[in-house]
Amino acid sequence: MTALLYNEDALAGLSRIEDASVDLVIADPPYGLGKDYGNDSDCLGAQEYLSWSRSWIDAVAPKLKANASLYVFLTWQHSPEVFSYLKTRLTMVNEIIWDRRVPSMGGSTRKFSSVHDNIGFFAKSRDYYFDVDAVRIPYDAATKKARSRSIFVGKKWLEIGYNPKDVWSVSRLHRQHAERANHPTQKPLEIVERMVLASCPPGGTVLDPFMGSGTTAVAAARHGRRFVGFELNPDYFAIVESRVAEVALGQRSLDLQARKSEIALSDCAGEAASG
Ligand SMILES: C[S@@+](CC[C@H](N)C(=O)[O-])C[C@H]1O[C@@H](n2cnc3c(N)ncnc32)[C@H](O)[C@@H]1O
Repeated sequence: MTALLYNEDALAGLSRIEDASVDLVIADPPYGLGKDYGNDSDCLGAQEYLSWSRSWIDAVAPKLKANASLYVFLTWQHSPEVFSYLKTRLTMVNEIIWDRRVPSMGGSTRKFSSVHDNIGFFAKSRDYYFDVDAVRIPYDAATKKARSRSIFVGKKWLEIGYNPKDVWSVSRLHRQHAERANHPTQKPLEIVERMVLASCPPGGTVLDPFMGSGTTAVAAARHGRRFVGFELNPDYFAIVESRVAEVALGQRSLDLQARKSEIALSDCAGEAASG
């Protein structure tokens, strides 16, 4: 599968992407909260931030195929205005609340502590691709047992699991987490993989205008989707390249192992036939 990675401002590079060629956009832009990404991309005032958000949305929207989707990570500070603008161009499907599972450690005494991100899920048309079976969550043994009354026996939904709800409770990545790269706002693969599996057909194309550490690129590579993405910061870009290369290396060694066992199997078959 191809991964086209550009160390470039997305607003400059997006013009090279063919219109109506992308199945899924996963956008995790600076949130407009003054984070340090080694550049001044998150230092805009509120009005400037909204105007910049409209610019990237205008650049990205034409790239979507007729049945494509777009997810955008934001927080409560700017999500109402950005979602409103997106609604002028696309159909809103869900607002997903990502509960980052932040432990209680004192917190603010002047307001309630904010522990979630607001993820907007939008589609180009009502006929958008969505594979719920790819992201079902299996019922645990205790729940299955509790549903053992005769009216539930043999029910397909009990066997295949349930559709994830719109609150996703997934821990943010701690510094010690095996997945963690050197990026301040890296997203967990579990979240991004769910988006890729549900909203991009196998072999389809995923676009991430703000790659950061490359979580979307990794999710696409792991699941046989094509990928194209942009990142401004050269240090983060190097992380993306190495994370994607690691997946490719793993896949090549898996492929090699599979071919080796295929050879071993056909050797056995040969022996059996000649014996
Ligand atoms: C919220 S982070 C993305 C994190 C990513 N989803 C991950 O899991 O690692 C946003 C990233 O966008 C980059 N960025 C900001 N403005 C950009 C632009 N105009 N073009 C490309 N990248 C940009 C920043 O350097 C930062 O790494």
